[in-house]
Amino acid sequence: MQASSPAARFVVLEGLDGAGTTTQTRLLGEWLRGLGLGVHETYEPSPGPIGLLIRQALRGRLVARPGRGEARPPGNDVMALLFAADRMDHLESEVLPALESGRWVLSDRYYHSSLLYQSLDGDQAWVRALNSHARAPDVTYVLDVPAAAAARRRSGRGATPELYETDPIQLRLEGLYRELPRLLPGEPIAVLDGSRPPAEVLRSLQADLQRRFGLAHPGAHAPV
Ligand code: TYD
Repeated sequence: MQASSPAARFVVLEGLDGAGTTTQTRLLGEWLRGLGLGVHETYEPSPGPIGLLIRQALRGRLVARPGRGEARPPGNDVMALLFAADRMDHLESEVLPALESGRWVLSDRYYHSSLLYQSLDGDQAWVRALNSHARAPDVTYVLDVPAAAAARRRSGRGATPELYETDPIQLRLEGLYRELPRLLPGEPIAVLDGSRPPAEVLRSLQADLQRRFGLAHPGAHAPV
């Protein structure tokens, strides 16, 4: 990295299932690398051991069997604890070392997902407390997409719906994501229109990062 490079930042992308956070994380990573910056792209649930366990729960392969009765997904509190444990493991093993080595970290989801998804049927203050030791991002982008549009994108993928991928849940989350800046007023959170074509969404993200952190203008050539 060049001596004049801006400090490494921790950037989070958030939104409904099907909002486009995975695509935009990848595109932003390519762009930042093109500017000559070191970048670590990552996601939650993380690729670590607790993240893998969570993925089993999301796909219905890790179940609770209350009183040895019918199998059902682990309860909300169990999920909140698993996500929080995965986050601290992810921070310790990936995010903080990457930042310390001067790389930008782009995370597809972070504690904002827990504050919204795990509070739907639970105690938000408790979910916040569980996540209170997690380093705050330098900026979080919510890709705002109507729940119906996100559902169309998900059905286009043809995968079996996961635990939270139901219309009623996603519809509640749609409104909650728009309220996120008011829920966390001390944090830099920008809500962007994620329903536009990916290249346009990327341009908004680039413009905001440029303004916020003094990066090269979108489209500028990488330093040689
Ligand atoms: P997602 O990013 O959709 O993974 P993939 O696209 O690979 O399936 O995340 C999986 C699900 O986990 C998604 O429905 C959101 C949910 N989730 C929570 O409920 N809480 C959390 O803290 C996180 C990180 C994710």
